[in-house]
Amino acid sequence: MVKNILHIISSPQGEASVSKKLGNVIIEKIKFKYPGSIVKERNLVTTVFPHLDEVQIGSWFTPAGDRSREQLTAVKISDEAILELQEADILVFGAPFYNFAIPSTLKAYLDHIARPGITFRYLENGQPEGLLKNKKAFVATASSGVYSEGPFQSFDFVSPYLTFLLGFLGVTDITFIRAEGLRIAGVKETAFEKAVGSITID
Ligand SMILES: Cc1cc2nc3c(=O)[nH]c(=O)nc-3n(C[C@H](O)[C@H](O)[C@H](O)COP(=O)(O)O)c2cc1C
Repeated sequence: MVKNILHIISSPQGEASVSKKLGNVIIEKIKFKYPGSIVKERNLVTTVFPHLDEVQIGSWFTPAGDRSREQLTAVKISDEAILELQEADILVFGAPFYNFAIPSTLKAYLDHIARPGITFRYLENGQPEGLLKNKKAFVATASSGVYSEGPFQSFDFVSPYLTFLLGFLGVTDITFIRAEGLRIAGVKETAFEKAVGSITID
């Protein structure tokens, strides 16, 4: 079965980026399992999503036909990003650890794709319902430190946040693949291979 894969890159390090390299390995493995799969790249460094402002938020809550010219321009980047998410079967996020969290470029992107009535809604009983259904996500993390275990485990604000936010939007099948300890002697030497070895594609 052919899959539509969306690779969301947030590292500014270009080809030297570990999270991008790891994302590419994940994608190669998906393509091996599902030959002919199509890959689309969303590079959050070459196309930076702006911080949400009054015009952008106003556009979301204004019916399409009533939007000002400014709002119509502003909403485009959000609409386009959501459409490519809706079209994807598999999402591959690159998520470097930046100050124990995700890079602000990725946060800005997530702010644009979490849209009430489009990617999530609240039911009458107040429960949220995610509207991005039937998708699988991989998150390729990269970090100098080790967060999957040990003394820094509780300072991982990447995986709990992405797990909750993506789940809120309906993407509940998430696998984290971690290249970690990239600056720790004795760990860094095998960190990438260890991450690659932990990838399984169902
Ligand atoms: C601005 C900045 C902040 C960082 N913050 C952390 C951090 O909080 N924890 C950590 O383990 N590594 C941190 N690092 C190291 C990166 O996570 C590491 O270099 C990783 O490989 C970056 O991903 P990339 O190679 O895909 O760009 C930081 C690096 C930079 C440049």
